[in-house]
Amino acid sequence: MGFPNIRMRRLRKSNAMRRLVRETTVTVDNLVYPLFVRKGNGLKEPIKSMDGCFHFSPDTVTKEAEDVANLGIPAVLLFGLPEKKDKTGSQAWSEDGAVQSAIRQIKKAVPELVVITDVCLCAYTDTGHCGLAKDGKIDNDATCELLAKVALSHAQAGADIVAPSDMMDGRVAAIRQCLEKNDFHDTAIMSYAAKFASAFYGPFRDAANSAPAFGDRKGYQMDPPNSRQALAEIALDIEEGADIVMVKPALCYLDIIRRASERFDVPIAAYNVSGEYMMLNAAAKAGLLDKDAAMLEMLTSIKRAGAHIIITYFAKEAAIIL
Ligand code: PBG
Repeated sequence: MGFPNIRMRRLRKSNAMRRLVRETTVTVDNLVYPLFVRKGNGLKEPIKSMDGCFHFSPDTVTKEAEDVANLGIPAVLLFGLPEKKDKTGSQAWSEDGAVQSAIRQIKKAVPELVVITDVCLCAYTDTGHCGLAKDGKIDNDATCELLAKVALSHAQAGADIVAPSDMMDGRVAAIRQCLEKNDFHDTAIMSYAAKFASAFYGPFRDAANSAPAFGDRKGYQMDPPNSRQALAEIALDIEEGADIVMVKPALCYLDIIRRASERFDVPIAAYNVSGEYMMLNAAAKAGLLDKDAAMLEMLTSIKRAGAHIIITYFAKEAAIIL
């Protein structure tokens, strides 16, 4: 056997032939589009650090969500910005907060669109940390209680999926118990299970105004060199009641996505984060590469690694060319 009996090029000779043997396809069904919302009316302000992304108010984000649904994208992920930050991040669970209002309006206007909400305190606390600070440290257990309140407020507003992104231990269990106790049996949890302390969140922290005021997030987010530990994090979140688990960021962590998808039977989500998005945009702007082709290659790599769901700021652009 071997050459010339085997010529790998035979199956690459035409586009139709390549399509026939293609192993991985990114479809619009796999995509989630993130949106940023704050209080107000008629707002649509460009986010400087993230091309093509905006700060919306609940009314305009609803219009945007309709456009997203019309493109065939099945889900959005909402991030909120408060009017005022405080010690506990109390606006995060306010019934009339920007996110809560946006959920209600979107579910009314486009009920079929899946509304996912980011559950975290970092945009809401005056320290910019994902949890409650006590003596310069982030208090894990006290934070879990607050996160459960945030998740419940989102569920009450009509969120389909709540997505805790804080990396406290036990927060999935706290949220699950709180939802069950309050009869939100069908609200799903997508946990940011393996979230790494990454340099690729830079543009987002500008967009969410959520950079930590002191220190960094290395005391709760994962250390990038660890992969076995990522699997332990994921196993724990599934045990605590997560329906979907996420690996974040995506591109530097394709090996984690691969291992997670081989080991676990729940859907695996991957977050193609702001730094990955802007790296490609910047290179394309500089005329260094073909943006659409590079974008599809990027999304395909995430899918090929084993992700079922891809959260990406490219979702709309990708939906148009797919
Ligand atoms: C909040 C949160 C972050 C992102 C999503 N949720 C930032 C962070 O942990 O600092 C990053 C998203 C992105 O970079 O696109 N905990």
